[in-house]
Amino acid sequence: TTGADVTDTRTAGPGAGVTVRVPAKVNVQLAVGAARPDGFHDLASVFLAVSLFDEVTATPADALTVTCSGPDADQVPLDRTNLAARAAEVLAARAGISPDVHLHIAKNIPVAGGMAGGSADGAAALLACDALWGLDTPREDLLALCAELGSDVPFSLVGGAALGTGRGELLTPVEAGTFHWVFAVAHGGLSTPSVFREFDRLTEGVDVPVPQASPVLLAALASGDPDALAAALANDLQPAALSLRPQLAATLAAGADAGALAGLVSGSGPTTAFLVRDPESAQKVAAALEASGTCRATRITASPAPGATVVPA
Ligand code: C5P
Repeated sequence: TTGADVTDTRTAGPGAGVTVRVPAKVNVQLAVGAARPDGFHDLASVFLAVSLFDEVTATPADALTVTCSGPDADQVPLDRTNLAARAAEVLAARAGISPDVHLHIAKNIPVAGGMAGGSADGAAALLACDALWGLDTPREDLLALCAELGSDVPFSLVGGAALGTGRGELLTPVEAGTFHWVFAVAHGGLSTPSVFREFDRLTEGVDVPVPQASPVLLAALASGDPDALAAALANDLQPAALSLRPQLAATLAAGADAGALAGLVSGSGPTTAFLVRDPESAQKVAAALEASGTCRATRITASPAPGATVVPA
């Protein structure tokens, strides 16, 4: 449709809404430090946005309501624990208005999968409500609100490729060439706090080093050389995710057997990510992973992808 299409419900008449498209992420490096006094962990997290998207549509309503569609919609909470609902609340509170909005989430990112799907919906809802309510909130303030919502939410807003420090919310953009990925969606989810708790248990008595971004990894990411990036991928949460979900070892083995350059757990898991050489190889690896019976579904993606963006009417 064109911008002049007045029948488009996103731009025209009562019930007009704003749709925001927002990407999933994978951490190509996730260096985790010791638990801090506040319970969070200092990170050096190299985020990469991938071309797997949720869409959040905000439309005027009498009260704050959330609906969700998509294959895993039944796993998405529709109450105030949903980060999209919380985003509407924090933005409305800042503006001194009532968060009366209907948020519809078209969900494609795996739920509780380590790909920041919930965080993505939070960032998307924030941007959608900001546009719907005509607030024009400065970018820095939006980023601060994102950080309030969760450690991964600022990156969902920004997208591309970035180094996250602090608990992951302090972002510095980094350079990234194009890479191709296959994601294996696991049966069931994993809770992020439980994976960090398992990390703490596994590192008890160990002197956990201060997390630092790897210069070798950053150079590989910038170069666009998939072999170099494959050799540098690292996730300190992987042992914890594998400890809680030992079956993931079979998925990682199936991806390696199928010709992936490298595989790793995505964030806190249980989604696994496989770096492949090109789109043709992606098709082969995805087919082999599906045939292996070690995952629920696969998704083929490329990176980097743009951050949360209003979908033009
Ligand atoms: O920030 P967010 O709400 O997404 O974090 C969810 C949980 O993940 C936290 O409550 C904490 O248990 C864990 N976490 C952590 N260190 C981080 C980020 C998250 O321990 N840097």
